[in-house]
Amino acid sequence: MGDASADIKHIAIIMDGNGRWAKQRGLPRQAGHERGVEALRRTVRACQGLSLQHLTVFSFSSENWKRPAAEISSLFSLLRLYVQQDLKKLAQDGVKVRVLGSRSGLPDDILKLIEKAEGQTAHNTEFNLNIAFNYGSRDELVEASRAIAQRVKTGELQPEDITTDIFSESMWFGEIPDPDLLVRTSGEYRLSNFLLWQIAYSELVFMDCLWPDFGEEHLKDALGIYKCRDRRYGGLTVNETEN
Ligand code: FPP
Repeated sequence: MGDASADIKHIAIIMDGNGRWAKQRGLPRQAGHERGVEALRRTVRACQGLSLQHLTVFSFSSENWKRPAAEISSLFSLLRLYVQQDLKKLAQDGVKVRVLGSRSGLPDDILKLIEKAEGQTAHNTEFNLNIAFNYGSRDELVEASRAIAQRVKTGELQPEDITTDIFSESMWFGEIPDPDLLVRTSGEYRLSNFLLWQIAYSELVFMDCLWPDFGEEHLKDALGIYKCRDRRYGGLTVNETEN
């Protein structure tokens, strides 16, 4: 499998199916989310073992505010628990943690935890764990547009200076390379407002497995599918250019 991950730096995952996993077992949705955190731990370890550089996970979307207050609060508590339980080990393992999304509407203690997680791992270079939290791609695009408009207003930029690079740099994900591969679990075929700008040329893999069941074997399966894809970025394959 070393081969499969040879040219892949960044995998992004829509961790879907926690609720269905719990329902199938007659358990509360919270139990599915808790097992989802375990799947996340397994996946971080597996990505590091396969020498990937970035894992981005969708852990709370800006649309998740539509869920019942109790579920929102349990998702927030899972972030609290994850940071409290795993930060030390992540920091020791050289993982740089970033939390990407809107900071507005988040409780103060969550904001402090995010600062702590990012601060304590800022200098790490072994691996990058990017947690999309309170994230929505359209919100990200609007914020980037506002920031660029502000720079035009102050005269720092002219409208004709605006390029795709300027746009990319202005995103919450600005410093992070685009994903090579996007995986969504649970058999749903949607992007759900996740990384719409950044996945323009990513390979998409949809898997039936529910997120709490995800592990190293599923990751390897996804990388195997990726390896068989022909990434052309709108150009031609090497063979075609030779003809
Ligand atoms: C989708 O399942 C999953 C989520 C909305 C949350 C994902 C969160 C975690 C895996 C744990 C949190 C991790 C951190 C780092 C805070 P769903 O509830 O939509 O499942 P369903 O479609 O089967 O109902």
